[in-house]
Amino acid sequence: MSENNTEIRKGLNGVVVDYTAVSKVNPETNSLTYRGYPVQELVEHCSFEDVAYLLWNGELPTWREFQEFGQRERALRPVTRGLLDLIASLPKTAHPMDVVRTAVSWLGTQDVTNEDNGSDTVRRTGLSLLAKLPAIIAYDMRRRHNLEFIPPSRTRDIASNFLYMCFGDGPDSPANNMDDVKAFDQSLILYAEHSFNASTFTGRVITSTTSDVYSAVTGAIGALKGALHGGANEAVMHNFLEVDDPAKAEQWVLDKADNKQKIMGFGHRVYKKGDSRVPSMEKAMRRTAANHDGDKWVQMYDNMQAAMEKRTGILPNLDFPAGPTYYMLGIDIPFFTPIFVMARVVGWTAHIVEQNESNALIRPLSAYNGEDQRVVEENIGR
Ligand code: COA
Repeated sequence: MSENNTEIRKGLNGVVVDYTAVSKVNPETNSLTYRGYPVQELVEHCSFEDVAYLLWNGELPTWREFQEFGQRERALRPVTRGLLDLIASLPKTAHPMDVVRTAVSWLGTQDVTNEDNGSDTVRRTGLSLLAKLPAIIAYDMRRRHNLEFIPPSRTRDIASNFLYMCFGDGPDSPANNMDDVKAFDQSLILYAEHSFNASTFTGRVITSTTSDVYSAVTGAIGALKGALHGGANEAVMHNFLEVDDPAKAEQWVLDKADNKQKIMGFGHRVYKKGDSRVPSMEKAMRRTAANHDGDKWVQMYDNMQAAMEKRTGILPNLDFPAGPTYYMLGIDIPFFTPIFVMARVVGWTAHIVEQNESNALIRPLSAYNGEDQRVVEENIGR
């Protein structure tokens, strides 16, 4: 019954689908470059705004380009009453990823340039989404605590503006702590892009049909939500809270491994010798812990990682240090994956531009393994 001679690559594992000039993941050298620049160097020397500019335009900005880009992004931050009302109308039981997905889809209905897939328009839409997503996510978080919307700042950068819209301007707000802002900014850089991951590929598939950018980003958000992809950063923190005691971390890992259960925040489809983004994020996590009395989470991190490596040889991915970092900054766990959206929207839209500029409909084949052809009249029950 099946087409036995066909080689099936489940999950497209190892299949090269197309070229991209946006980023390169090299598992052999354990490296990731954005437009040719190692991500570790970008984390040390650049802001998230520099990296967004780089991913969209192919070059790091000059000082003047950086200023202009920042001005354009800040001018696009305000969100309408209609959008806030839409968010307020959604049940608080809905996962924040469903809210952000709905908000992006709604924004598409408001944009008269929606059907224009020209590269400049797509980049402009990407910038508009980059500017508005922090307000959408921060408002959704605040309304669940019955707190008012804080309108975006005109002076803060993206990272500090998001923390400000979540926590306000008080002396204890992470928005006013340079280390916290830096750690958050670095996480956005590390989350911004990662070649043909599942959500980016989803966006490219949708784009390949000549559909619009909002549809592609909405679909990409749906793909990112799953725990095997972006949802892992939330699952990591749930695990930390479940274990709750660094002394119990090793046994917890061993029990899971014995039961053949997956532990979120470990493993990667492409990296098999370690995720190149982890060392930078781990540094940011340790700095954040030092400022927030977070020694317990660092010990938990170390113990789980050591036990996992000893028992399975499987190494952590970016979500493993990112989850506890966001938690120590005071962010509610269900908002960890929406933050990933805030950053990855840059990568998605860079890929949408690339797909549009060299498009071929993405339509793979399948091998049929159902019933042989049958005759209806012989089987219909009357
Ligand atoms: N915990 C325990 N075992 C894991 C594991 C994990 N996190 N990740 C992979 N493995 C094991 C699998 O159980 C499988 O073992 P088996 O061969 O004995 O059945 C083997 O490693 C291969 O895993 P598989 O899921 O088939 O490989 P993949 O390339 O499809 O996996 C992921 C990639 C990311 C889906 C996988 O590592 C995973 O599910 N990780 C947890 C989710 C996560 O953190 N996602 C974020 C990715 S950035």
